[in-house]
Amino acid sequence: MSAYESILFDQEGPVAKLTINRPQALNSLNQHVIEEMLEAILTEMNPDVRVLILEGAGDKAFVAGADIKSMLEMSPVEALEFSRVGQNLLNVLEQIPQIVIGKIQGFALGGGCELALACDILVASTKASFGQPEANLGLIPGFGGTQRLVRRVGLPQAMDLLLTGSGRRLSGSEALTLGLVSRLVSPEQLEEELEKVVKSILITGPFASREIKRLVRESSEMSLRAGLNSESTSFAACFALGDPREGISAFLEKRSPSFE
Ligand code: CAA
Repeated sequence: MSAYESILFDQEGPVAKLTINRPQALNSLNQHVIEEMLEAILTEMNPDVRVLILEGAGDKAFVAGADIKSMLEMSPVEALEFSRVGQNLLNVLEQIPQIVIGKIQGFALGGGCELALACDILVASTKASFGQPEANLGLIPGFGGTQRLVRRVGLPQAMDLLLTGSGRRLSGSEALTLGLVSRLVSPEQLEEELEKVVKSILITGPFASREIKRLVRESSEMSLRAGLNSESTSFAACFALGDPREGISAFLEKRSPSFE
């Protein structure tokens, strides 16, 4: 466990966990928190880590948004920097080879909803609550919400969520229906479900899971033809750089595969 002021970062073998640790402020994100998150992910995370779990401390909030207090006296130049740093964190989460799993036990509002949108898999409890209330503060989302939300849930829902601000909250089950979260369970089952997801990923081929993440992430910026070409190249690369022979042999021999 490392010493940071606002986050906890713990890694053991192939699994790392980053906890945003400001429960007194519902884990809201100021620039310092974001910089600590970037430092842990980019400089401390072991290259052998395959899965990064992202969570908020306490049982009330994943993240209740950007830190509102820190924005009161912000100048336009500082706001630009804050937005860029936040966007950079989310881009990093999408681009690292590790599979990022967001554990959403409570509020994921504003920047917290945006952060959730950058996770690869979201496991939420029925107590989760999503929303984009920035407009009520006279603000717009600054960490990618105007761009990722519409790609995720479509224009009518994104417009409604963004334009009516605190007037619209998505419950966990609505978020599941809209495709915002991957899995929904009761609060009591959240840890267990998270472990199931982690275990399922860890028994897959490491090269394959990294490539799946990369290809799916890149698909939103590619034509179908370019994406399919990229997929074929990567499928071939599995045979050069990955370990499909072990996976396939294990299947044929009715045993568990042992990758790497
Ligand atoms: N920033 C800073 N502090 C926050 C916060 C935030 N985003 N959200 C909550 N807090 C603080 C509260 O000020 C309060 O602190 P004090 O005890 O010192 O007063 C503490 O966390 C507990 O919060 P509440 O008393 O408000 O708890 P509640 O249960 O009554 O309400 C809530 C919970 C509905 C989440 C409410 O706190 C809330 O509406 N929070 C703000 C949500 C929001 O507007 N987020 C968007 C921020 S802007 C943004 O994110 C911009 C961007 O995209 C970059």
